[in-house]
Amino acid sequence: MRSVIDIMDLSLEEIDGLLNTAEDIIANPKKYADACRGKKLATLFFEPSTRTRLSFEAAMYELGGNVIGFSEASSSSSAKGESISDTARTISCYADIIAMRHPKEGAPYVASLKATVPVINAGDGGHNHPTQTLADLLTIKREKGRFDSLTIGLCGDLKFGRTVHSLISAMSRYSNVRFVMISPDELKIPDYVKQNVLIPKGIEYKEVKSLEEAMPELDILYMTRVQKERFFNEADYIRLKDTYILTPEKLSGAKDDLCIMHPLPRVNEISVAVDDDKRACYFKQVLNGKYMRMALILKLLEVEV
Ligand code: CP
Repeated sequence: MRSVIDIMDLSLEEIDGLLNTAEDIIANPKKYADACRGKKLATLFFEPSTRTRLSFEAAMYELGGNVIGFSEASSSSSAKGESISDTARTISCYADIIAMRHPKEGAPYVASLKATVPVINAGDGGHNHPTQTLADLLTIKREKGRFDSLTIGLCGDLKFGRTVHSLISAMSRYSNVRFVMISPDELKIPDYVKQNVLIPKGIEYKEVKSLEEAMPELDILYMTRVQKERFFNEADYIRLKDTYILTPEKLSGAKDDLCIMHPLPRVNEISVAVDDDKRACYFKQVLNGKYMRMALILKLLEVEV
């Protein structure tokens, strides 16, 4: 029984396998239509979500399985004080696999210690979001055709943006990857990401404030939303939320084959005028996320197709 709490729980070979499965699902969807017949996915979302929850649910339905769950903590017995551990043990009696999102860092890990079925971290606080990274990796593979020798600009809320933390870990395993971290001082990448990933692995990175100055060298621009829900002080959020707004004008210095990514939801950080640019890949990321979640469910349920 395997859980996926951190993207590093999956080896490079396993990620390659998931990418290959996802591409086979895209090419041959009917082959997978009954793969999870009789299986149940539980989606336990203690925090809001559109893409992650609904793509997990769509993934399970497209595999022929069923879904149970809740989309807000207030409709579960956690509102009465039930612990994560007891919730995990209980849901293990009803479902074959669990996808959990929680505002507290580490909650899906705690659940995985007591669950008797696989637990997938669907986002824990400002910490990690491994299945978003799987969506990001399929997008990079399909758009750039490689993972090596890429300069990746990460822009916006690098402090609380859990998708960024997971993506850095995942990309740090490939050769000649460079990061340009574009953020205000208050939203810089946490020290633990530097100390645990970037420095030990000798990954080249720089921290800058200007998106326009960074733009010409980027192969990938990964925009992020300022995470309002993680701020203690609303005045700080209001001051920082519109620090970076990507517009067609700001792309004038960008490469022709730049890949513009964003985990979504977006607020103001990418102008809708950018959506028609051929380099905008963020809605492709949404669809890729469903295929990678299908591949992950198959793997963790040990279903052979
Ligand atoms: N990317 C992402 O996690 O989106 P949701 O919050 O809508 O699930």
